[in-house]
Amino acid sequence: MVIKGLKGVKAAETVISHIDGVNGRLIYRGLDIGELTKNHSFEEVSYLLWHGEWPDHHQLLQLKNKLKKHRELPEYLENLLISLPAEMDFMSVLRTAVSAAGPLNKDKPSYSDSIRLTAMMPTIIACRKSHLEGRPFVRPSAELDHVENYLYMLNGEKPAESQRKALETYMILTLEHGMNASTFSARVTVSTESDIYSAVTSAIGTMKGPLHGGAPSEVIAFLDEAAKSGNIEKLIREKINRGERLMGFGHRIYKTHDPRALALKSVLLEIASKDEWLGLSLDVETAAVSLLQELKPGRALYTNVEFYAAAIMKSIQMESELFTPTFTASRVVGWTAHILEQSENNTIFRPESHYIGRMPVV
Ligand code: CMC
Repeated sequence: MVIKGLKGVKAAETVISHIDGVNGRLIYRGLDIGELTKNHSFEEVSYLLWHGEWPDHHQLLQLKNKLKKHRELPEYLENLLISLPAEMDFMSVLRTAVSAAGPLNKDKPSYSDSIRLTAMMPTIIACRKSHLEGRPFVRPSAELDHVENYLYMLNGEKPAESQRKALETYMILTLEHGMNASTFSARVTVSTESDIYSAVTSAIGTMKGPLHGGAPSEVIAFLDEAAKSGNIEKLIREKINRGERLMGFGHRIYKTHDPRALALKSVLLEIASKDEWLGLSLDVETAAVSLLQELKPGRALYTNVEFYAAAIMKSIQMESELFTPTFTASRVVGWTAHILEQSENNTIFRPESHYIGRMPVV
């Protein structure tokens, strides 16, 4: 029997994360995601995902220092970023740069390489962005933590605390999400005993597709339309009646509230309560959830992570071309945690296909 898209197939055992779609829970290493965003940093949660336990003071300091050290790109990589054609999209640039970052790497996947890959993603994005805009590249600052430094390189100034908190919450919530397509792709590549740079290159290529890392840009378009419509309820009713999907609503696994959307909404309410985008998002959510209940009864359709990610990105003035690359800069932690887990206890992925073509005539 062929199981299309491997739907429902459990392809590996993992201790990294668990998604409970019925009860709307996402668990990283035994801990509920909502709790992790309250008092923990990107660095701490990354350490937790890689090691299965919280870092002590010394381990955290060591991780932060290593991340800072690897923020600087080798000269040849910066030159590569400048020489790639201007029309090449950001995800293709990331994929090419990561591939070029590990040309000699034949070692078994390691924690050090996981840190290096995580450290270099924001620099690659910021360096390329400044080049495209024809302005000098704001070099990474060794004074700042990971997320703060990313915003600093993009904007040339230390971010406001609310901006830092918004992006850090988003990045923690998107670090890891079970056996999604890009994580699977990374695990398949490393299962052949290929190297970690090749595995992350595969993952980026997979993430790039609109069915996966599609980014919240479509939600922005929907919110724009809602803002211009003058009658949100009428617009949404017509969309549903035409059979259109409301972007940012519904989920394949969560058949209740997406816990990441709830956590993002709560941080937005805290830091951007007067933001007009937040007000618009709340109005659209209220109208859409009620109309979806009326017109699609029994389907349990609520906001997903993309919906409030869009509002977060808007509130920190992140340009839409950077949405998927930013998602990638956080998901690299989940990928590398899975790569390490796969290589610790490896069986090569080698499924079979069911041949339905012609046979030789005998
Ligand atoms: N708007 C309107 N109707 C919807 C929506 C929506 N967003 N999502 C599902 N439905 C309806 C759908 O029309 C169908 O109705 P009917 O039974 O009358 O034909 C029913 O709900 C079930 O749809 P489905 O396609 O079988 O549901 P699914 O669980 O396979 O789809 C989904 C999941 C995310 C593809 C879908 O909800 C969707 O297209 N949403 C909009 C796009 C979006 O926001 N994508 C981001 C998802 S979060 C990604 C991540 O976790 O990384």
